[in-house]
Amino acid sequence: MNLYCILFSLAAILKFSDSCLVIRYSEPPACACKTLKLDIWNIAENHGEPYLLYNSVLFSTIKSPEILVDDCFVQVYCEDGADFYIFDNGKGAKIGDYSLDGSCDPYQQAWQVDTGNGMEQYKELKAVCVLKSKNEAFRTGYLYMVDQEKNPPQTFDSSETGSDILDVLERFVDSNHPLICGSMVLVAMKRSPNEVDISRIVEKLRENQITVIIAAQDTFSGGLHPETMYDLAAKTNGFCAFSHHIVAASQTAPNVLAPFIVYSLNLKVSGTGTMVLPTIVLSGYGTVHLSIAVQSTGTANSFQSLKFSFRNKELGTFGSVEKTRDELKYNAVPIMNSFKVSNFLLAEPTFFEFTLDYNYSMEDTILIRLISERGIGHWFPYQD
Ligand SMILES: *[C@@H]1O[C@H](CO)[C@@H](O)[C@H](O)[C@H]1NC(C)=O
Repeated sequence: MNLYCILFSLAAILKFSDSCLVIRYSEPPACACKTLKLDIWNIAENHGEPYLLYNSVLFSTIKSPEILVDDCFVQVYCEDGADFYIFDNGKGAKIGDYSLDGSCDPYQQAWQVDTGNGMEQYKELKAVCVLKSKNEAFRTGYLYMVDQEKNPPQTFDSSETGSDILDVLERFVDSNHPLICGSMVLVAMKRSPNEVDISRIVEKLRENQITVIIAAQDTFSGGLHPETMYDLAAKTNGFCAFSHHIVAASQTAPNVLAPFIVYSLNLKVSGTGTMVLPTIVLSGYGTVHLSIAVQSTGTANSFQSLKFSFRNKELGTFGSVEKTRDELKYNAVPIMNSFKVSNFLLAEPTFFEFTLDYNYSMEDTILIRLISERGIGHWFPYQD
């Protein structure tokens, strides 16, 4: 009889605590998992991992996806059969051209999604669509560059071995290929040349209106004269970008998708000041992108801040971009020397005025380039 009583009361306790559990879990917190649509305006500041996956997205034509959130459920897809990719801190996946369903775990406020490799947790579900595009060749070129950076085909023991890039450029010009005139050359570099005098190659490049774009590692692994490439880029209306990842450097430079240099200045600055810059008349309509290299190496300390502004009195439009030293850090390691603003202004056949405010602790040279899908009917003049 006693035993029965004990069992009975144990059962009662179990039952009671069971129902306690039920009561405690009957009202879960509200689902508030975060999502973010990535597009050309915000993808740069939401840069992600894994590095290769993120880069293959950056070099594509992208647009924002459809993200439908209904309480604790989410559906993400792209229209027109575009592929989509998802990212979060430290992870990412290519989902492809079907839709993704996920559910929000309200206790962790994180999405549970099936990425094709099983269920994964995404704190913030960032998604982007990649259009299957005509720029496939361009993208393939960049991916080749990524691969070469990871698996260099050649190495040299001595840090005094210089790059032979000046000879390579000369052979390119001397090939007399019918399409070299007006071409844009992208060079990915880990090692600087040993030469300083570039007058002969500059003359040949200018005769053929060839623009040289350099994407370089912030500290060259060898070669005696890192400043030579910045000088060469300056003199061909080109660009020289440094970063600890060559591919990240190339992202700030002008590229062939908008191949026309419509404005180009090399400005020597030191200390602080304001410059009123030459005006231009843009001939057509369309968007104009801005690339600025703020200093001649990736590791110098001279650049503090700058502001580049445009104004169009006739249209009543104006705008500016401002950068400080801190904002040019990439993954918090050494500074990049450059940045790019896509769609900086909308071209119309009217006068644009520009000003530059700057703050430098030492002398340096700024490269300012505006590039567009449409030319201005003539080659933009060179400066020394
Ligand atoms: C220039 O930058 C330095 C360092 O950030 C700052 O201390 C100084 O106040 C700035 N000068 C001007 C005129 O803005």
